[in-house]
Amino acid sequence: MRLERPLRHFTPPHGWMNDPNGLVWFEGEYHLFYQHNPDAAVWGPMHWGHAVSTDLEHWTHLPIALAPDASGTMFSGSIVADHANTAGFGKPGQTALVAIYTVHDPDGKQIGNGRHESQALAYSLDRGRSWTKFECNPVLPNPGDTPDFRDPKVMWHSPTRRWILSLAVGDEIRFYASPDLKQWSALSRFGRSLGAHGGVWECPDLFEVRSDDTGETRWVLFVSLNPGGVQGGSGTQYFYGDFDGVTFTPAPECLAQIEKHGALWLDFGPDHYAGVTFANLPEARPRPVMIGWMNNWQYGQAIPENGWRGAMALPRELSLKRVRDGFRLASRPVKFSTQASISEPAPTSLALDHPCADILIQARLTAPHGYFRLTLSGVNAHPLTIDFNGAKCQYAVLRDEPALARLQGFAGTFFAPRLTDAAHVSLSVHLDHGSIELFADDGLTPITLTHFSGGMFDRATLDLSDAIIERFDMARASLHPHTEDTGDRISAVLRNT
Ligand code: FRU
Repeated sequence: MRLERPLRHFTPPHGWMNDPNGLVWFEGEYHLFYQHNPDAAVWGPMHWGHAVSTDLEHWTHLPIALAPDASGTMFSGSIVADHANTAGFGKPGQTALVAIYTVHDPDGKQIGNGRHESQALAYSLDRGRSWTKFECNPVLPNPGDTPDFRDPKVMWHSPTRRWILSLAVGDEIRFYASPDLKQWSALSRFGRSLGAHGGVWECPDLFEVRSDDTGETRWVLFVSLNPGGVQGGSGTQYFYGDFDGVTFTPAPECLAQIEKHGALWLDFGPDHYAGVTFANLPEARPRPVMIGWMNNWQYGQAIPENGWRGAMALPRELSLKRVRDGFRLASRPVKFSTQASISEPAPTSLALDHPCADILIQARLTAPHGYFRLTLSGVNAHPLTIDFNGAKCQYAVLRDEPALARLQGFAGTFFAPRLTDAAHVSLSVHLDHGSIELFADDGLTPITLTHFSGGMFDRATLDLSDAIIERFDMARASLHPHTEDTGDRISAVLRNT
């Protein structure tokens, strides 16, 4: 199976990639660090790979930021800009970027000492180009009650003027506070008997987000879960409510939604995991921006590779939207526009002459049970279908790739709920080599999947009943390779036209 590098999704220069780490905006650059094994296209001794971008679209690879040392390998974590120099790593005129990451000691794990994961610091005074590990690591040792003790996400909590750390511990989240990033005290625990369990909880993220509809803000807590995700294997759930500086309390309506639906899912596809938000975003970006890993631990190490394996999903902006029974998070690709001019009459079939296309469908239901199916097909490509079913208030994506059917959880129909009753249905589909990202109903139902269909999709066809298509068109992207390479590889990316 021939594997092309995605054109506008971030991939590692070589080797293996999983979680995004240390997402931070600093002095005009977005930094993307990531879990990385540079020596093989499978998971292994974890390093932090590194890339930067000024627009979240064009990425430049930089040298590896954190490499394994005598204490262990470098698991996931976060980065903050320590503007007030609380940790004392800064120098006059030089703000320190401080990374807090999990040290994973493989020897400790092997002997089962139950303390093989702890949290450590590193800092940079040169815009993330070089890193110094703190000599008094670890700053948060494992107390010994739960071996899975990882993925620290730190944020500055202005009302209490201190740092707050969210940590995944077994299948709960623990919160800690610190005045200086070095000394941490335990605050509270969350989630033991709430939401989706069934696997270990990983990669938490606590942040505030505003509702587009009402202007109210809520605290949102992301919790990645593996296994036990919405489509099996890996998935990310979230909770919303209040954080008072000590305790996260889910809103009563969030609890009622969880009671009814089991969990609130960030993305309904099988391939969106370990996503977290950027720290220190400029005021011009009032909404949280996140990146997720576009893969699933169920089969992630067995999907096709070509010297590199794994891609990030498109960066997404988050907001809260009111739905029938409370709030839901809506996600939209950062460059995604919902402004639509209605083209009439809309065609029912489109030629796709480029691997990287954005397809937009806007339909009006003439009966509540209106239905449409989008089929993507190509000469050598195995077709992929996307259904909207008004009667069931549901979307469904069929990924049926015989060549990968042996991978558990890969082939199948992935169902996703529709979270609004509106008569207008909008679906924006972002295609690239190896992936498809769908955003239904203005981002209320995102569905992310990898696919390795063998060839390029060259046609998109719509079949419908009891629905009128008001718009069905395609925006093609054009190539603008990025040439400023300060690392060992150039990433080619696209800009939307
Ligand atoms: C999530 C995860 C994290 C861990 C990292 C190891 O995908 O399992 O919990 O820190 O990957 O690479």
